[in-house]
Amino acid sequence: MPVSDAMNTLRDAILSGKAGPEDYVGLPLPESMLAIATHRDEVTMFEGLESHEKDPRRSLHLDEVPVPEVGPNEALVAVMASSINFNTVWSAIFEPVPTFQFLQRAAKRSPWDKRHDLPYHIIGSDGAGVILRVGPGVTLFKPGDEVTIHCNYVDMQAPDGHDDSMLDPDQRIWGFETNFGGLAEIAVVRANQLMPKPSHLTWEEAASMPLVNSTAYRMLVSHNGTHIKQGDIVLIWGAVGGLGGFALQYVLNAGAFPICVVSSQDKVKLCETIGARWMIDRRAEGYQFWNADGSQNVRELRRFGQKIRELTKGEDPDVVYEHPGHETFAASVFVARPGGQVVTCASTTGYNHEYDNRYLWMNKKRIIGSHFANYREAWEANRLVCKRAIHPLLSEIYPLAEAGEAAYRVHHNLQIGKIGVLCLAPRDGLVSFGSGGTYCVASVRRAWQRASRRSCARDRGSCRPAAWPASA
Ligand SMILES: NC(=O)c1ccc[n+]([C@@H]2O[C@H](COP(=O)([O-])OP(=O)(O)OC[C@H]3O[C@@H](n4cnc5c(N)ncnc54)[C@H](OP(=O)(O)O)[C@@H]3O)[C@@H](O)[C@H]2O)c1
Repeated sequence: MPVSDAMNTLRDAILSGKAGPEDYVGLPLPESMLAIATHRDEVTMFEGLESHEKDPRRSLHLDEVPVPEVGPNEALVAVMASSINFNTVWSAIFEPVPTFQFLQRAAKRSPWDKRHDLPYHIIGSDGAGVILRVGPGVTLFKPGDEVTIHCNYVDMQAPDGHDDSMLDPDQRIWGFETNFGGLAEIAVVRANQLMPKPSHLTWEEAASMPLVNSTAYRMLVSHNGTHIKQGDIVLIWGAVGGLGGFALQYVLNAGAFPICVVSSQDKVKLCETIGARWMIDRRAEGYQFWNADGSQNVRELRRFGQKIRELTKGEDPDVVYEHPGHETFAASVFVARPGGQVVTCASTTGYNHEYDNRYLWMNKKRIIGSHFANYREAWEANRLVCKRAIHPLLSEIYPLAEAGEAAYRVHHNLQIGKIGVLCLAPRDGLVSFGSGGTYCVASVRRAWQRASRRSCARDRGSCRPAAWPASA
């Protein structure tokens, strides 16, 4: 599908780096844009299939749709790049419920919310780009600002969220529970989702971070999570996955000790390169935490605990960073030390968790539920990226039209770290105009590229590893 003239003019203005706030306001908005959307009339298309058989490539469509109107306290952002999160997969396979239910429920709230209730849902909960327009009431940001977008969509009308906006009864995840998400050429966001783009990162690097980085920050660093301290031992499931790759960096930055659980030797090596000492290859170990009859396999839980103690010379984890859910939760509760914490934000393998509660109460362990992050937490996580203390972990980049293929790879755990998606950016590797270039920990970037090349060659053959510059 060709990009419209108006969209080309917009993109040229961004790439030139010369347009000021007035220039952006003077640029005509295109009437339509390209976007990745699910369709309401297809929500039953996967009925009768197992989760792993539901193929995002069938349900994610590249549509030409009208550019939405900007409302009060909102901004219209030209999205240079976005990324695939696991919620892209949930949206695409209509699990655990079709997201159109969220849009219909929200539409009852106000005429502006009604805009979101459409027969198509533009998904995507990450973005980096340039502000085109701001609605009435926006004061901190202006057209022309380069931004990253976090996905906490909340306007704070109710009292409940004023200590922590994640507790607001109307809190939603942008691009999952709202329409006009990041996998599009233009997105609508609340002004309090905007954060300065880290100027040293490419568009796709910057876009790959907000959702998982902010979530990991809240789970591990914030007082709303486990608030880790130096010396803590933190077991991280999927330590170079989307969430895990950031958890690993936060644990190392805190002077704490990560135990990285991953599923290949490439990933083990990558954890080591990033700075971890203790790794467990769960596939090589072949843990079977569940018996065929669905009962818990206590012998396997003990074998897992023993492996941890071999690595740590007898110590158990202070914190377990949980998200696989059903398959691992009992093991997470079992291995946490007495008084330890299990922090959970997801249930990828199933949300009915079964565990032996005696290990919890007798040993005074705690389970903490965590969900995304409030604006302050997202801002602090973004600030650490700006200060080059936290780095992107991006292994593959796809054009917008191939977002379905990218989501398929995440669905089947074929990627390392995050997958970026180019929206208006004409190619990967573009750093914001006028910045001093790209910097990252050189050895991490090189190891990441080697590992992603190996996994790409094995799994697909044609994807491109992230374009970190040779000078990095
Ligand atoms: N509530 C929130 O705010 C929030 C925010 C972000 C994500 N999430 C959710 O968190 C989950 C993970 O997201 P993500 O972005 O990190 O996904 P991801 O990039 O796919 O990474 C998940 C990692 O989990 C590991 N894993 C997969 N299956 C496993 C199993 N059966 N046992 C143990 N480990 C397993 C994999 O690592 P190895 O194969 O190397 O072990 C994989 O890299 C998703 O369900 C997502 O929806 C929730």
